[in-house]
Amino acid sequence: MASDAAHRRAPLFESLRSFVERDQAPFYSPGHKGGRTLDPWFREHIAAVDLNNLADLDTLHCPSGPILEAEALIADAWGATASFILVQGSTGGNIAVALSALRPEDPVLVQRNAHKSVLAGLVQSGARPIWLAPQWDAEFGVAHGLSVDQVDAALAAEPAVALWILHPTYFGTTADITALADVCRRRGVRLLADGAHSPHFAFHPELPTAAETAGAAATVQSVHKILSGLSQAAVLHVDTDQLDVPTVRRSLQLIQTTSPHFAIMASIDLARRQMITEGRELLDVTLRRARRTAARLAEIPGLRVFGDEDLTGPGSGSHQRDATKLLIGTAGLGADAGEILAQLTRIHGVQPELAGSGHILCITTIGNTDTDMDRLVDGFADIAQRVGLRDTEVAADAGIDVLGLAPEPVLTPREAFFAATATVALQSASDRIAAEPITPYPPGIPLVMPGERLSAEVLDALRALRAADNPISAADPTLERVTVVR
Ligand SMILES: Cc1ncc(COP(=O)(O)O)c(C=O)c1O
Repeated sequence: MASDAAHRRAPLFESLRSFVERDQAPFYSPGHKGGRTLDPWFREHIAAVDLNNLADLDTLHCPSGPILEAEALIADAWGATASFILVQGSTGGNIAVALSALRPEDPVLVQRNAHKSVLAGLVQSGARPIWLAPQWDAEFGVAHGLSVDQVDAALAAEPAVALWILHPTYFGTTADITALADVCRRRGVRLLADGAHSPHFAFHPELPTAAETAGAAATVQSVHKILSGLSQAAVLHVDTDQLDVPTVRRSLQLIQTTSPHFAIMASIDLARRQMITEGRELLDVTLRRARRTAARLAEIPGLRVFGDEDLTGPGSGSHQRDATKLLIGTAGLGADAGEILAQLTRIHGVQPELAGSGHILCITTIGNTDTDMDRLVDGFADIAQRVGLRDTEVAADAGIDVLGLAPEPVLTPREAFFAATATVALQSASDRIAAEPITPYPPGIPLVMPGERLSAEVLDALRALRAADNPISAADPTLERVTVVR
Protein backbone atom coordinates (compact mmCIF):
# COMPACT_ATOMS: atom_id res chain seq x y z
CA MET A 1 0.00 0.00 0.00
CA ALA A 2 1.35 3.44 -0.94
CA SER A 3 2.00 5.95 1.84
CA ASP A 4 -0.46 8.67 2.91
CA ALA A 5 1.85 11.27 1.42
CA ALA A 6 1.77 9.45 -1.92
CA HIS A 7 -2.04 9.43 -1.85
CA ARG A 8 -2.16 13.14 -1.10
CA ARG A 9 -0.63 13.65 -4.53
CA ALA A 10 -2.49 13.47 -7.85
CA PRO A 11 0.38 12.85 -10.26
CA LEU A 12 -1.63 12.91 -13.48
CA PHE A 13 -3.54 16.03 -12.55
CA GLU A 14 -0.35 17.73 -11.35
CA SER A 15 1.50 16.99 -14.58
CA LEU A 16 -1.45 18.31 -16.63
CA ARG A 17 -1.59 21.45 -14.56
CA SER A 18 2.09 22.16 -14.88
CA PHE A 19 1.93 21.53 -18.66
CA VAL A 20 -1.02 23.90 -19.07
CA GLU A 21 0.57 26.61 -16.93
CA ARG A 22 3.72 26.60 -19.07
CA ASP A 23 3.96 29.38 -21.61
CA GLN A 24 4.17 27.61 -24.95
CA ALA A 25 3.63 27.81 -28.67
CA PRO A 26 1.46 24.75 -29.45
CA PHE A 27 2.17 22.84 -32.65
CA TYR A 28 0.35 19.68 -31.61
CA SER A 29 -3.20 18.34 -31.63
CA PRO A 30 -5.93 19.06 -30.54
CA GLY A 31 -6.57 21.72 -33.12
CA HIS A 32 -8.23 24.13 -30.69
CA LYS A 33 -4.82 24.72 -29.06
CA GLY A 34 -5.80 24.96 -25.44
CA GLY A 35 -9.32 26.18 -26.14
CA ARG A 36 -8.38 29.20 -28.29
CA THR A 37 -10.87 28.38 -31.06
CA LEU A 38 -13.76 27.16 -28.89
CA ASP A 39 -17.06 28.99 -28.54
CA PRO A 40 -16.63 31.11 -25.36
CA TRP A 41 -19.85 29.91 -23.66
CA PHE A 42 -18.98 26.31 -24.43
CA ARG A 43 -15.43 26.73 -23.09
CA GLU A 44 -16.79 28.11 -19.79
CA HIS A 45 -19.41 25.37 -19.40
CA ILE A 46 -17.59 22.20 -20.40
CA ALA A 47 -18.14 20.69 -16.94
CA ALA A 48 -21.79 21.77 -16.85
CA VAL A 49 -22.56 20.05 -20.14
CA ASP A 50 -21.17 16.74 -18.88
CA LEU A 51 -24.62 15.13 -18.77
CA ASN A 52 -26.34 11.81 -19.13
CA ASN A 53 -28.65 10.61 -21.95
CA LEU A 54 -31.62 12.51 -20.51
CA ALA A 55 -34.92 12.68 -22.32
CA ASP A 56 -34.35 16.25 -23.55
CA LEU A 57 -30.88 15.48 -24.85
CA ASP A 58 -31.09 12.41 -27.11
CA THR A 59 -29.07 9.18 -27.16
CA LEU A 60 -26.05 8.54 -29.33
CA HIS A 61 -26.83 4.87 -29.91
CA CYS A 62 -30.27 5.50 -31.43
CA PRO A 63 -30.56 9.23 -31.97
CA SER A 64 -33.92 10.79 -32.80
CA GLY A 65 -33.54 14.42 -31.64
CA PRO A 66 -30.69 16.95 -31.52
CA ILE A 67 -27.97 14.32 -32.08
CA LEU A 68 -29.70 13.10 -35.25
CA GLU A 69 -30.16 16.69 -36.38
CA ALA A 70 -26.48 17.44 -35.70
CA GLU A 71 -25.48 14.34 -37.69
CA ALA A 72 -27.60 15.45 -40.66
CA LEU A 73 -25.90 18.86 -40.61
CA ILE A 74 -22.48 17.18 -40.43
CA ALA A 75 -23.31 15.07 -43.50
CA ASP A 76 -24.51 18.17 -45.32
CA ALA A 77 -21.44 20.23 -44.40
CA TRP A 78 -18.93 17.57 -45.47
CA GLY A 79 -20.95 16.55 -48.54
CA ALA A 80 -21.62 12.98 -47.37
CA THR A 81 -24.89 11.10 -47.69
CA ALA A 82 -24.76 10.10 -44.01
CA SER A 83 -22.48 10.93 -41.11
CA PHE A 84 -22.13 9.61 -37.57
CA ILE A 85 -20.81 11.27 -34.44
CA LEU A 86 -17.93 9.34 -32.87
CA VAL A 87 -16.78 9.81 -29.28
CA GLN A 88 -13.87 7.35 -29.33
CA GLY A 89 -11.79 9.08 -31.94
CA SER A 90 -10.89 7.75 -35.34
CA THR A 91 -9.83 4.63 -33.46
CA GLY A 92 -13.48 3.79 -32.81
CA GLY A 93 -14.33 4.89 -36.34
CA ASN A 94 -11.82 2.57 -38.00
CA ILE A 95 -13.04 -0.38 -35.95
CA ALA A 96 -16.64 0.46 -36.89
CA VAL A 97 -15.65 0.66 -40.56
CA ALA A 98 -14.12 -2.82 -40.36
CA LEU A 99 -17.19 -4.24 -38.63
CA SER A 100 -19.50 -2.59 -41.19
CA ALA A 101 -17.61 -3.29 -44.42
CA LEU A 102 -15.62 -6.48 -43.81
CA ARG A 103 -16.44 -10.05 -42.83
CA PRO A 104 -14.25 -12.85 -41.50
CA GLU A 105 -11.81 -14.04 -44.18
CA ASP A 106 -12.62 -11.16 -46.56
CA PRO A 107 -9.44 -10.27 -48.44
CA VAL A 108 -8.75 -6.55 -48.15
CA LEU A 109 -5.87 -4.47 -49.51
CA VAL A 110 -4.43 -2.41 -46.66
CA GLN A 111 -1.73 0.22 -46.70
CA ARG A 112 1.04 -1.10 -44.44
CA ASN A 113 1.61 2.21 -42.67
CA ALA A 114 -1.97 2.05 -41.40
CA HIS A 115 -2.70 3.25 -37.86
CA LYS A 116 -2.95 0.52 -35.23
CA SER A 117 -6.72 1.07 -35.06
CA VAL A 118 -6.91 -0.43 -38.57
CA LEU A 119 -5.15 -3.50 -37.22
CA ALA A 120 -7.66 -3.49 -34.35
CA GLY A 121 -10.46 -3.43 -36.95
CA LEU A 122 -8.87 -6.36 -38.77
CA VAL A 123 -8.61 -8.33 -35.52
CA GLN A 124 -12.23 -7.60 -34.66
CA SER A 125 -13.63 -8.35 -38.12
CA GLY A 126 -11.38 -11.32 -38.95
CA ALA A 127 -10.67 -9.97 -42.43
CA ARG A 128 -7.54 -11.10 -44.28
CA PRO A 129 -5.25 -8.17 -45.07
CA ILE A 130 -3.08 -8.05 -48.16
CA TRP A 131 -0.53 -5.48 -47.08
CA LEU A 132 0.70 -2.95 -49.60
CA ALA A 133 3.96 -1.06 -49.01
CA PRO A 134 3.60 2.71 -49.19
CA GLN A 135 5.97 4.97 -51.10
CA TRP A 136 9.03 5.71 -48.95
CA ASP A 137 10.61 9.15 -48.79
CA ALA A 138 14.25 8.68 -47.82
CA GLU A 139 14.96 12.38 -47.61
CA PHE A 140 12.37 13.11 -44.93
CA GLY A 141 12.24 9.62 -43.41
CA VAL A 142 8.48 9.26 -43.85
CA ALA A 143 6.11 6.97 -45.73
CA HIS A 144 3.48 8.38 -48.09
CA GLY A 145 0.57 6.64 -49.85
CA LEU A 146 -0.02 3.96 -52.46
CA SER A 147 0.40 4.40 -56.19
CA VAL A 148 -2.51 3.78 -58.54
CA ASP A 149 -0.50 1.24 -60.57
CA GLN A 150 0.38 -0.69 -57.43
CA VAL A 151 -3.26 -0.89 -56.35
CA ASP A 152 -4.45 -1.79 -59.84
CA ALA A 153 -1.85 -4.57 -60.08
CA ALA A 154 -2.76 -5.88 -56.61
CA LEU A 155 -6.46 -5.95 -57.49
CA ALA A 156 -5.68 -7.74 -60.76
CA ALA A 157 -3.59 -10.34 -58.89
CA GLU A 158 -5.79 -11.02 -55.87
CA PRO A 159 -9.52 -10.93 -55.26
CA ALA A 160 -10.29 -8.28 -52.63
CA VAL A 161 -13.48 -6.73 -51.33
CA ALA A 162 -11.98 -3.38 -50.37
CA LEU A 163 -8.97 -1.09 -50.43
CA TRP A 164 -8.23 0.57 -47.08
CA ILE A 165 -6.02 3.63 -47.34
CA LEU A 166 -4.57 6.34 -45.18
CA HIS A 167 -5.73 9.71 -46.50
CA PRO A 168 -3.63 11.67 -45.66
CA THR A 169 -0.65 10.31 -43.75
CA TYR A 170 0.20 11.76 -40.36
CA PHE A 171 2.57 14.05 -42.27
CA GLY A 172 -0.17 15.41 -44.54
CA THR A 173 0.56 13.77 -47.88
CA THR A 174 -2.07 11.98 -49.92
CA ALA A 175 -2.09 9.57 -52.82
CA ASP A 176 -4.16 10.29 -55.93
CA ILE A 177 -7.52 9.50 -54.37
CA THR A 178 -9.59 10.38 -57.42
CA ALA A 179 -7.66 7.84 -59.49
CA LEU A 180 -7.71 5.27 -56.68
CA ALA A 181 -11.48 5.66 -56.38
CA ASP A 182 -11.77 5.12 -60.15
CA VAL A 183 -9.75 1.90 -59.95
CA CYS A 184 -11.91 0.69 -57.05
CA ARG A 185 -15.12 1.51 -58.92
CA ARG A 186 -13.86 -0.24 -62.05
CA ARG A 187 -12.88 -3.34 -60.09
CA GLY A 188 -16.01 -3.34 -57.92
CA VAL A 189 -14.29 -2.96 -54.54
CA ARG A 190 -15.06 -0.49 -51.79
CA LEU A 191 -12.64 2.28 -50.95
CA LEU A 192 -12.26 2.80 -47.18
CA ALA A 193 -10.39 5.87 -45.96
CA ASP A 194 -8.70 6.47 -42.66
CA GLY A 195 -8.90 10.24 -42.95
CA ALA A 196 -8.08 10.93 -39.30
CA HIS A 197 -6.04 13.98 -40.33
CA SER A 198 -8.45 15.31 -42.97
CA PRO A 199 -11.51 16.88 -41.28
CA HIS A 200 -10.66 20.28 -42.81
CA PHE A 201 -10.13 19.14 -46.42
CA ALA A 202 -13.78 19.76 -47.32
CA PHE A 203 -13.60 23.41 -46.35
CA HIS A 204 -10.79 24.84 -48.49
CA PRO A 205 -10.00 24.29 -52.18
CA GLU A 206 -6.23 24.47 -51.62
CA LEU A 207 -6.31 21.46 -49.32
CA PRO A 208 -6.10 17.92 -50.80
CA THR A 209 -9.13 16.21 -52.32
CA ALA A 210 -11.45 14.94 -49.59
CA ALA A 211 -12.06 11.18 -49.50
CA GLU A 212 -15.72 11.56 -48.51
CA THR A 213 -16.59 13.25 -51.81
CA ALA A 214 -14.06 11.40 -53.97
CA GLY A 215 -15.93 8.08 -53.89
CA ALA A 216 -14.91 6.48 -50.59
CA ALA A 217 -17.55 4.18 -49.10
CA ALA A 218 -16.45 5.22 -45.60
CA THR A 219 -14.24 8.01 -44.31
CA VAL A 220 -13.20 8.48 -40.71
CA GLN A 221 -11.98 11.87 -39.46
CA SER A 222 -10.66 13.08 -36.11
CA VAL A 223 -12.33 16.45 -35.64
CA HIS A 224 -10.16 16.95 -32.55
CA LYS A 225 -6.85 16.66 -34.38
CA ILE A 226 -7.25 19.65 -36.68
CA LEU A 227 -10.55 21.45 -36.03
CA SER A 228 -12.23 22.67 -32.82
CA GLY A 229 -13.21 19.24 -31.50
CA LEU A 230 -12.36 18.10 -28.01
CA SER A 231 -10.12 15.03 -27.79
CA GLN A 232 -11.92 11.90 -29.05
CA ALA A 233 -14.32 13.96 -31.21
CA ALA A 234 -14.49 12.32 -34.62
CA VAL A 235 -16.90 11.64 -37.46
CA LEU A 236 -17.60 8.78 -39.83
CA HIS A 237 -18.99 9.70 -43.24
CA VAL A 238 -20.49 7.01 -45.45
CA ASP A 239 -21.74 6.84 -48.98
CA THR A 240 -25.13 5.20 -48.48
CA ASP A 241 -25.06 3.73 -52.00
CA GLN A 242 -22.15 1.60 -50.80
CA LEU A 243 -22.79 1.11 -47.05
CA ASP A 244 -26.18 1.26 -45.39
CA VAL A 245 -26.95 3.29 -42.29
CA PRO A 246 -28.42 0.45 -40.16
CA THR A 247 -25.28 -1.66 -40.65
CA VAL A 248 -23.03 1.20 -39.57
CA ARG A 249 -25.27 2.12 -36.63
CA ARG A 250 -25.26 -1.54 -35.51
CA SER A 251 -21.44 -1.62 -35.59
CA LEU A 252 -21.19 1.65 -33.69
CA GLN A 253 -23.59 0.34 -31.06
CA LEU A 254 -21.21 -2.55 -30.45
CA ILE A 255 -18.18 -0.42 -29.76
CA GLN A 256 -19.15 3.08 -28.60
CA THR A 257 -19.70 3.86 -24.94
CA THR A 258 -23.29 4.17 -23.68
CA SER A 259 -22.19 7.23 -21.70
CA PRO A 260 -20.79 9.53 -24.37
CA HIS A 261 -19.46 12.88 -23.22
CA PHE A 262 -21.90 15.54 -24.43
CA ALA A 263 -19.09 18.09 -24.59
CA ILE A 264 -17.26 15.88 -27.11
CA MET A 265 -20.40 15.52 -29.21
CA ALA A 266 -21.28 19.23 -28.97
CA SER A 267 -17.73 20.20 -29.96
CA ILE A 268 -18.31 18.43 -33.30
CA ASP A 269 -21.57 20.31 -33.78
CA LEU A 270 -19.76 23.58 -33.07
CA ALA A 271 -16.75 22.70 -35.24
CA ARG A 272 -19.16 22.07 -38.12
CA ARG A 273 -20.87 25.40 -37.53
CA GLN A 274 -17.52 27.18 -37.38
CA MET A 275 -16.35 25.63 -40.65
CA ILE A 276 -19.58 26.45 -42.47
CA THR A 277 -19.79 30.03 -41.25
CA GLU A 278 -16.13 31.08 -41.33
CA GLY A 279 -14.04 28.04 -42.28
CA ARG A 280 -12.90 29.36 -45.64
CA GLU A 281 -11.51 32.58 -44.14
CA LEU A 282 -9.98 30.86 -41.11
CA LEU A 283 -8.27 28.26 -43.29
CA ASP A 284 -7.11 30.98 -45.72
CA VAL A 285 -5.25 32.64 -42.87
CA THR A 286 -3.95 29.32 -41.56
CA LEU A 287 -2.60 28.25 -44.94
CA ARG A 288 -1.00 31.62 -45.61
CA ARG A 289 0.63 31.62 -42.19
CA ALA A 290 1.90 28.05 -42.58
CA ARG A 291 3.35 28.72 -46.05
CA ARG A 292 5.12 31.87 -44.86
CA THR A 293 6.53 29.99 -41.88
CA ALA A 294 7.68 27.10 -44.10
CA ALA A 295 9.58 29.56 -46.29
CA ARG A 296 11.24 31.20 -43.26
CA LEU A 297 12.22 27.84 -41.77
CA ALA A 298 13.67 26.69 -45.10
CA GLU A 299 16.08 29.63 -45.00
CA ILE A 300 17.70 28.30 -41.83
CA PRO A 301 20.89 26.40 -42.79
CA GLY A 302 20.52 22.67 -42.15
CA LEU A 303 16.71 22.59 -42.43
CA ARG A 304 14.53 21.34 -45.29
CA VAL A 305 10.77 21.80 -45.28
CA PHE A 306 8.54 19.44 -47.24
CA GLY A 307 6.90 21.40 -50.05
CA ASP A 308 5.00 21.02 -53.31
CA GLU A 309 8.30 20.34 -55.12
CA ASP A 310 8.71 17.15 -53.04
CA LEU A 311 5.45 15.63 -54.31
CA THR A 312 5.88 12.98 -56.98
CA GLY A 313 2.83 13.66 -59.10
CA PRO A 314 -0.53 12.23 -60.24
CA GLY A 315 -0.96 8.51 -59.76
CA SER A 316 1.90 8.34 -57.25
CA GLY A 317 1.80 7.80 -53.49
CA SER A 318 2.53 11.46 -52.86
CA HIS A 319 0.25 13.47 -55.08
CA GLN A 320 -1.13 16.23 -52.85
CA ARG A 321 -0.22 17.66 -49.47
CA ASP A 322 -1.82 19.51 -46.62
CA ALA A 323 0.20 22.72 -46.39
CA THR A 324 -0.98 23.41 -42.83
CA LYS A 325 1.37 20.63 -41.68
CA LEU A 326 5.02 21.59 -41.39
CA LEU A 327 7.25 18.56 -41.98
CA ILE A 328 10.70 19.86 -41.17
CA GLY A 329 13.70 17.77 -42.26
CA THR A 330 16.45 18.08 -39.64
CA ALA A 331 18.97 15.58 -41.04
CA GLY A 332 21.30 18.47 -41.95
CA LEU A 333 21.67 19.52 -38.32
CA GLY A 334 24.27 18.23 -35.88
CA ALA A 335 21.79 16.71 -33.41
CA ASP A 336 19.04 14.18 -33.83
CA ALA A 337 15.43 15.29 -34.17
CA GLY A 338 14.49 14.11 -30.66
CA GLU A 339 17.22 16.27 -29.13
CA ILE A 340 16.21 19.25 -31.28
CA LEU A 341 12.59 18.88 -30.19
CA ALA A 342 13.65 18.66 -26.54
CA GLN A 343 15.67 21.86 -26.87
CA LEU A 344 12.89 23.69 -28.70
CA THR A 345 10.53 22.84 -25.87
CA ARG A 346 12.92 23.42 -22.98
CA ILE A 347 14.54 26.61 -24.18
CA HIS A 348 11.83 28.19 -26.33
CA GLY A 349 8.54 26.75 -25.11
CA VAL A 350 7.87 25.54 -28.65
CA GLN A 351 6.05 22.21 -28.56
CA PRO A 352 5.96 20.27 -31.87
CA GLU A 353 3.69 17.26 -32.42
CA LEU A 354 6.53 14.75 -32.79
CA ALA A 355 10.11 14.04 -33.74
CA GLY A 356 10.94 11.08 -35.96
CA SER A 357 14.09 9.95 -37.66
CA GLY A 358 15.43 13.09 -39.33
CA HIS A 359 12.23 15.09 -39.06
CA ILE A 360 10.01 17.14 -36.80
CA LEU A 361 6.29 17.53 -37.45
CA CYS A 362 4.45 20.70 -36.47
CA ILE A 363 0.66 20.78 -36.76
CA THR A 364 -0.64 24.28 -37.42
CA THR A 365 -4.36 24.96 -37.24
CA ILE A 366 -6.86 27.79 -37.06
CA GLY A 367 -5.80 28.01 -33.39
CA ASN A 368 -2.24 29.18 -34.06
CA THR A 369 -1.16 32.81 -34.11
CA ASP A 370 1.57 34.87 -35.78
CA THR A 371 3.34 34.94 -32.42
CA ASP A 372 3.42 31.12 -32.33
CA MET A 373 4.97 31.13 -35.79
CA ASP A 374 7.62 33.69 -34.81
CA ARG A 375 8.51 31.59 -31.78
CA LEU A 376 8.81 28.50 -33.96
CA VAL A 377 11.11 30.18 -36.48
CA ASP A 378 13.20 31.95 -33.82
CA GLY A 379 13.43 28.74 -31.81
CA PHE A 380 14.63 26.71 -34.79
CA ALA A 381 17.12 29.43 -35.80
CA ASP A 382 18.60 29.42 -32.30
CA ILE A 383 18.77 25.63 -31.95
CA ALA A 384 20.25 25.27 -35.44
CA GLN A 385 23.01 27.63 -34.41
CA ARG A 386 23.60 25.82 -31.12
CA VAL A 387 23.85 22.34 -32.64
CA GLY A 388 25.54 23.38 -35.90
CA LEU A 389 25.50 21.48 -39.17
CA ARG A 390 26.00 17.74 -39.42
CA ASP A 391 29.35 16.89 -40.94
CA THR A 392 28.79 13.21 -41.69
CA GLU A 393 25.95 11.38 -43.37
CA VAL A 394 23.94 9.24 -40.98
CA ALA A 395 22.47 5.96 -42.15
CA ALA A 396 19.00 6.28 -40.69
CA ASP A 397 17.77 2.83 -41.62
CA ALA A 398 20.62 0.43 -40.74
CA GLY A 399 20.60 -0.50 -44.44
CA ILE A 400 17.46 -2.61 -44.07
CA ASP A 401 14.64 -2.24 -46.58
CA VAL A 402 11.87 -2.81 -44.04
CA LEU A 403 9.09 -2.10 -46.53
CA GLY A 404 10.58 -4.43 -49.14
CA LEU A 405 10.68 -7.50 -46.86
CA ALA A 406 7.00 -8.51 -47.17
CA PRO A 407 6.93 -11.45 -44.71
CA GLU A 408 4.70 -14.39 -45.63
CA PRO A 409 1.18 -14.05 -44.17
CA VAL A 410 0.07 -17.35 -42.60
CA LEU A 411 -2.78 -16.45 -40.24
CA THR A 412 -5.17 -13.51 -40.19
CA PRO A 413 -4.44 -10.89 -37.51
CA ARG A 414 -7.54 -12.20 -35.70
CA GLU A 415 -6.33 -15.82 -35.74
CA ALA A 416 -2.89 -14.74 -34.52
CA PHE A 417 -4.37 -12.52 -31.81
CA PHE A 418 -6.57 -15.25 -30.36
CA ALA A 419 -4.09 -18.12 -30.80
CA ALA A 420 -2.27 -19.62 -27.85
CA THR A 421 1.06 -17.83 -27.69
CA ALA A 422 4.53 -18.36 -26.33
CA THR A 423 7.40 -15.99 -25.68
CA VAL A 424 10.58 -17.34 -27.19
CA ALA A 425 14.16 -16.13 -27.63
CA LEU A 426 14.66 -14.37 -30.95
CA GLN A 427 17.28 -16.92 -32.05
CA SER A 428 14.83 -19.79 -31.61
CA ALA A 429 11.94 -18.05 -33.36
CA SER A 430 12.91 -19.16 -36.86
CA ASP A 431 9.85 -19.98 -38.99
CA ARG A 432 7.47 -19.33 -36.10
CA ILE A 433 4.41 -17.12 -36.67
CA ALA A 434 4.43 -13.72 -35.00
CA ALA A 435 1.60 -12.99 -32.58
CA GLU A 436 2.49 -9.31 -32.21
CA PRO A 437 3.47 -6.46 -34.50
CA ILE A 438 7.18 -5.59 -34.38
CA THR A 439 7.86 -2.04 -35.48
CA PRO A 440 11.32 -0.53 -35.95
CA TYR A 441 11.84 3.27 -36.03
CA PRO A 442 12.46 4.26 -38.73
CA PRO A 443 10.25 3.64 -40.62
CA GLY A 444 7.67 3.34 -37.82
CA ILE A 445 5.85 0.72 -39.87
CA PRO A 446 5.60 -2.89 -38.67
CA LEU A 447 8.32 -5.09 -40.10
CA VAL A 448 6.21 -8.01 -38.92
CA MET A 449 2.44 -8.10 -38.49
CA PRO A 450 0.63 -10.61 -36.27
CA GLY A 451 0.09 -13.74 -38.34
CA GLU A 452 3.23 -13.32 -40.45
CA ARG A 453 6.14 -15.78 -40.59
CA LEU A 454 9.41 -14.97 -38.87
CA SER A 455 11.56 -16.29 -41.71
CA ALA A 456 15.36 -16.36 -41.54
CA GLU A 457 15.42 -13.18 -43.63
CA VAL A 458 13.01 -11.40 -41.27
CA LEU A 459 15.01 -12.49 -38.21
CA ASP A 460 18.26 -11.29 -39.83
CA ALA A 461 16.65 -7.91 -40.42
CA LEU A 462 15.44 -7.71 -36.83
CA ARG A 463 18.92 -8.62 -35.53
CA ALA A 464 20.53 -5.98 -37.76
CA LEU A 465 18.09 -3.33 -36.57
CA ARG A 466 18.74 -4.29 -32.98
CA ALA A 467 22.50 -4.18 -33.52
CA ALA A 468 22.15 -0.71 -35.06
CA ASP A 469 20.32 0.41 -31.91
CA ASN A 470 17.17 1.38 -33.82
CA PRO A 471 14.29 1.86 -31.38
CA ILE A 472 11.83 -1.01 -31.72
CA SER A 473 8.24 -1.16 -30.59
CA ALA A 474 7.34 -4.71 -29.50
CA ALA A 475 6.26 -6.51 -26.34
CA ASP A 476 9.99 -6.74 -25.57
CA PRO A 477 11.61 -3.67 -27.17
CA THR A 478 15.09 -5.21 -26.69
CA LEU A 479 13.96 -8.07 -28.97
CA GLU A 480 15.63 -10.62 -26.73
CA ARG A 481 12.30 -12.42 -26.89
CA VAL A 482 9.33 -12.30 -29.25
CA THR A 483 5.71 -13.41 -28.89
CA VAL A 484 4.80 -16.17 -31.32
CA VAL A 485 1.88 -18.45 -32.00
CA ARG A 486 2.34 -21.66 -30.06
C1 LIG B 1 -3.76 7.93 -39.31
C2 LIG B 1 -4.46 7.81 -38.00
N1 LIG B 1 -5.59 7.10 -37.94
C3 LIG B 1 -6.28 6.96 -36.80
C4 LIG B 1 -5.82 7.56 -35.65
C5 LIG B 1 -6.61 7.40 -34.39
O1 LIG B 1 -7.23 8.60 -34.13
P1 LIG B 1 -7.83 8.96 -32.70
O2 LIG B 1 -6.65 9.37 -31.86
O3 LIG B 1 -8.79 10.06 -33.00
O4 LIG B 1 -8.49 7.75 -32.17
C6 LIG B 1 -4.64 8.31 -35.67
C7 LIG B 1 -4.12 8.92 -34.43
O5 LIG B 1 -3.06 9.48 -34.39
C8 LIG B 1 -3.94 8.44 -36.88
O6 LIG B 1 -2.79 9.14 -36.96
